[in-house]
Order: sequence, then structure tokens, then C-alpha cells
Amino acid sequence: MNTVLYYFTGTGNSLETARLIGQKLGDTQLISIASLQKETAVICEAEQIGLIYPVYMFGLPLIVRRFAEKLRAAKSHAYIFSVATYGGSAGAANSQLKKILRKNGLILQGGFGLKMPGNYTVLYGAPAHKTLVKMIARAGAQTNRLAERILNQEKSLARSNFLACTLGQWFYHKIMSTLPAADKNFHVKDSCTSCGICARLCPAENIYLQNGRPNWLHRCEQCLACLQWCPAEAIESGQKTAGRRRYHHPAINVLDIEKARL
Ligand SMILES: Cc1cc2nc3c(=O)[nH]c(=O)nc-3n(C[C@H](O)[C@H](O)[C@H](O)COP(=O)(O)O)c2cc1C
Ligand code: SF4
Ligand code: SF4
Repeated sequence: MNTVLYYFTGTGNSLETARLIGQKLGDTQLISIASLQKETAVICEAEQIGLIYPVYMFGLPLIVRRFAEKLRAAKSHAYIFSVATYGGSAGAANSQLKKILRKNGLILQGGFGLKMPGNYTVLYGAPAHKTLVKMIARAGAQTNRLAERILNQEKSLARSNFLACTLGQWFYHKIMSTLPAADKNFHVKDSCTSCGICARLCPAENIYLQNGRPNWLHRCEQCLACLQWCPAEAIESGQKTAGRRRYHHPAINVLDIEKARL
């Protein structure tokens, strides 16, 4: 049974999850959602279709929303599932996805959540090394169990508690429209070496270099890839990220993220 896994990632959690699940399922193709942005429709021929993505503001990243709106399945019996990776609470992400897919005649049969290290450096720094190693090991074990459930084509929708869903939905609708312009908070320090990595990996093609320094075009997804992967840690968001430990999944490197944009 063949599977296509569509993934979106800023710091590698969702990509590593897709890789591990793909290895377990076998006969799996990984496709980056960022690479399909210019397609007007995506018709998937696979027998199993998965969407793996990070939770943003208790819901779906905008890029994942737009992708879900144009996804179609060629096989009416295809098993459709999702894995929302999150730091604290998946909120209403899978329910939002279910609603969008339903409009395309697709049923989200398995909606799963996976707790991973949080990457929202605007609020907190990455965990210290020892804690991180434990978190990654736990997430890896959970991913393997999740892959078994997917192999069994389990039908279930992981829900966060009522409060997280209701408040989360309210917060999501309030804040998501402001995210594309939230790059106005980014600024670059003199430690920038003009390497161009931030511009090359941005999934939204939202960064260009001018006089060797990044500039942002206000169509940001807030994935924080530019801030997290800058080798000089020269990008900050407002005043609060200064001195905070950066995060990316240890099994993923900057080239993996650059490739995810192609
Ligand atoms: C803009 C933004 C908003 C986030 N919002 C949430 C959230 O509401 N709940 C949560 O548990 N984690 C949240 N996170 C953390 C990510 O969902 C989590 O770290 C995810 O696994 C990152 O995946 P990635 O490495 O594939 O980008 C947020 C991260 C970002 C960048
Ligand atoms: S990745 Fe960092 S060092 Fe490289 S150009 Fe961007 S801001 Fe400058
Ligand atoms: S500008 Fe930075 S945070 Fe915004 S989409 Fe690009 S890489 Fe992500």
C-alpha cells in the first residue's frame, strides 16, 4: 500500500516525524507542502495520504490551510490521516483540518497529535541539551507507536481538552491574520555574515538580501526558520528572543530545510 506524506516544517520536528513514519510504513513518498505553493490543485493518487505539520496558535499554519484547501484524492477509499506536532497543546488544529478537507469530499480518518520540543522562541528558549535528548527520545518512541496506529488505519481524532479547543479557536482567529506582517518584529544584528541561508530556506520566499542583510516582505508564515537556523544567531524578533537558546530538531540539518522549499 503506497503512501504520500505531505509535510510542512520550520525547525525539523514535522520533517523528522514524516521520515520516521515513512520508514515504518514503507513505500512512502515525502513531499514538502512549501514546494507545492504555486500549484492550483493537488490530486494525490496514493492509497494513504498523510499531512504532517506544526501547530501554530492552537491551529493550522496558514500555508497548511491553503494546501488542504486544494488537496484532492484520486482514490475514493484512500486512508487520510494527519499528525500535528506541537510543544504544549494541539488545540483545534486537527478539527480545523477535518473541516477544510470535508469541503473537498475528503474524510480525515486519523487525526493524531505528537508532543515535541516547542520552537516558539518568541515566548521561550529551547530546552537544555539533557532535557532535549530525553524529549527527542520520547517523541521518537511515540512516533513509532503512532506509525503502528497508522499502519492499522486507525480511525480517531485526537482532541485537546474543551478549554484549549474553545479558547484556542478564539485566539487563533484573532491572531492568525496578523502573522504575515509579524516579520516587522524581526531585526538583524551586526553579527550577520551575509551568508544568505535565511533567504534560501524561507518557505514563503519572504526574505531578500540587500547590502548583504535580510529584509522581510510581510508574507511571513512565522515558522521561525530564519531565526532558528541563522548560523550567527543574528536574527531577533522584538526584544525578547535575545539570549534565548535556538532550536532545531537534532536529526535535521539546514540543507534538509532548504530542500523542503524546492
Ligand atoms: C508561530 C508558532 C506558533 C506556535 N503555536 C503553538 C501552539 O499553539 N501550541 C503548541 O503546542 N505549540 C506551538 N508552537 C510550537 C510548534 O508547534 C512545535 O514546536 C512544532 O513541533 C514545530 O514543528 P517544526 O519543527 O516542524 O516547525 C508554535 C510555534 C510557532 C513557530
Ligand atoms: S542567515 Fe544570519 S548570517 Fe546569514 S544572511 Fe541571514 S541573518 Fe545574516
Ligand atoms: S521570514 Fe522567517 S519566519 Fe517568516 S516564513 Fe520566512 S523563514 Fe519563516
